[in-house]
Amino acid sequence: MPLVTTTEMFKKAYNGGYAVGAFNVNNMEIVQGITEAAGELKSPVILQVSKGARAYANHTYLVKLVEAAVIENPEIPIALHLDHGDSFELCKSCIDGGFTSVMIDASSKSFEDNIALTKQVVEYAHAHGVVVEAELGKLAGVEDNISVDERSAKFTDPAEAQEFVERTGVDSLAIAIGTSHGAYKFKGEPYLDFERLKEIHSLIPETPLVLHGASTVLREFVDRCNEYGGQIPGAQGVPEEMIREATKYGICKVNIDTDLRLAMTAEIRRFLIESPSEFDPRKYLGPARDAIQRMVQHKIRDVLNASNTL
Ligand code: G3H
Ligand code: 13P
Ligand code: ZN
Repeated sequence: MPLVTTTEMFKKAYNGGYAVGAFNVNNMEIVQGITEAAGELKSPVILQVSKGARAYANHTYLVKLVEAAVIENPEIPIALHLDHGDSFELCKSCIDGGFTSVMIDASSKSFEDNIALTKQVVEYAHAHGVVVEAELGKLAGVEDNISVDERSAKFTDPAEAQEFVERTGVDSLAIAIGTSHGAYKFKGEPYLDFERLKEIHSLIPETPLVLHGASTVLREFVDRCNEYGGQIPGAQGVPEEMIREATKYGICKVNIDTDLRLAMTAEIRRFLIESPSEFDPRKYLGPARDAIQRMVQHKIRDVLNASNTL
C-alpha cells in the first residue's frame, strides 16, 4: 500500500486499546531498522522527520528512503510525518513534498497565536489530503519537584485543549503532562500528571492525543554507552509502565527518538572499542541497525501493544 495518513491508524488504535509508535528517522539504517521491526510484527508505524533531520539528510533523500521502505513492506501502513514543524512554510514544503502528516508546533506562542497558525496549517493540509498534529502546553524540563502552580502554568490546560481543538479543527493534539525530550527527563522520581491526561481525554474523547518525549532511556543502552567510553551518567526516561498507562487515556501516538539514538550509539561504541582495526562502516552500522530493530520490536510488542493489528 502507498504512504497513508494517520486517520485510520489512530481510529484502529483507539478502538483496539493500543498506540502507534512514531519514530524519528535520519538515515537509511534507522529507516530500515524501524520498518523491518514493524513489518515483522505486522504493526502500523509512523516515520517522523524533524527540521534538523531534513537539514541533515535532505528532504528528497528522506522521502525516497521512506518510499523504499513502503515498497519493501507492502503489508503495513506507514505514515510520513513532519515532527515539530515551526512555521507554515516548513509545513507547506513537507505537504507539497509528499508527507502525509505534519506537526505545527506553535506551543511557545500565545494561545491565540497558536490557534491562528495551527488553523492556517490545517486549512492548507486538509485541502491537500494531509493530517495535522498541533501542540498545546510546554514539555517540562528536568526541574526537580515541579510545584503544582508551575505544573498548571506549563502543562496542558484541559479546557484550553477543548477550545483549541474545536477552533482549529486539528486532527491530533500533543499534550504536556510531564515528559520532556532527550535522555534527562527527571531528576528525582518520574512523574506524569495522569489526572490531567484523563480530564483532557474526557473533554475531547474523539481527538487522538500524542505523547512527546516518550523514550524510556533503556538502561541496557545507557550502560553499554558508558561501558565503552560514553559519558551519560544519570540519564532517565519515562518508565514503560507509565507509557502503557497513558495509552489507556487517549494517547494514540507515542514519540520515540532518544531510545533510537542510544541503541545505535551503544552498538557503534562497542564495535569500535572491541574491533579497533576495523574501518568498514557496514561492520558497525549493520549491528546498529539490528539493535534499532530489536529495540523497536520491544516497543511495539511489549509497550505499545500494537503487534498483529493490521
Ligand atoms: O523532538 C525532538 C526529536 O528528538 C528530534 O530531534 O530536532 O535533534 O532532530 P532533532
Ligand atoms: P524522546 O527524546 O523522548 O525520544 O522524544 C522524542 C520526541 O518527542 C520527538 O518529537
Ligand atoms: Zn517531540
